[in-house]
Amino acid sequence: MNYLNDKYNLGAITTERLREMKADGRKICCITAYDALFAKIFEEAGVDLILVGDSLANIVQGKETTLSVTLKEMIYHTKAVTSVAKRPLVVADMPFMSYQVNIDEAVNNAGRLLKEANCDAVKLEGCTEKILTAVKTMTEIGIPVLGHLGLTPQSINKFGTYKARGTDKAEAEKIFSDAIQLEDAGACAVVLEKIPADLGKSISENLSIPTIGIGAGKYCDGQVLVYADMLGINIDFKPRFVRRYAELHEVIKKAVEQYASDVINSNFPTDKESY
Ligand code: KIV
Repeated sequence: MNYLNDKYNLGAITTERLREMKADGRKICCITAYDALFAKIFEEAGVDLILVGDSLANIVQGKETTLSVTLKEMIYHTKAVTSVAKRPLVVADMPFMSYQVNIDEAVNNAGRLLKEANCDAVKLEGCTEKILTAVKTMTEIGIPVLGHLGLTPQSINKFGTYKARGTDKAEAEKIFSDAIQLEDAGACAVVLEKIPADLGKSISENLSIPTIGIGAGKYCDGQVLVYADMLGINIDFKPRFVRRYAELHEVIKKAVEQYASDVINSNFPTDKESY
């Protein structure tokens, strides 16, 4: 099937269309982007959803965890993406400590991402009572929210490890019931990260909103990958769930080596490249 000609590739993607895609069995393709350069290429490639993830901490800022990302940084990167991406739904991550403690603060911060960075929806991790109330309030006032369950990187200091979640019965049941509660609170989709495929399947089958998986198996309604991992730019991170579609680290390194060699050996620029 050539997705570039299907009906979902014609107009802008809305949260309503995400639900239609799930109902039609049309899988949702999501990728991260943190700047206009990559967002433009990904829009041209026909992705449905661009996530301005707080993984920008790892990819752009060289940090070990996502905890230090600020709202100001999320607004900056999201603005760059929304300045070019018009068809995909653009979702911005809410940074750690911008939504967990105080509901009014959470709603205001989500509102700033929509108003100042022009994204279409926000994503937040986990499922506490406060988070459910925040999701409900945001949804009521017109801020679409995606949940994020399973491995939630902002909780690394609670988990102590990035290993798969929901591998024991109790945790699998908790993730399942959290997904139901997020849907009931009004979430428009749920990201499921690094959980067993059969748990991804049962959650996907029991929700009417789409699930977007990353290491959550083939039964999710859509998939998301961090672009630098799947394009082989970031070669240090290679979990099982990342499929490498290119080896750009090598391509870029070779090109820059050639450039350096040309400059050092006075082979660049030539007369033709000069004024
Ligand atoms: O920050 C991010 O890129 C994410 C994805 C890994 C889902 O949350």
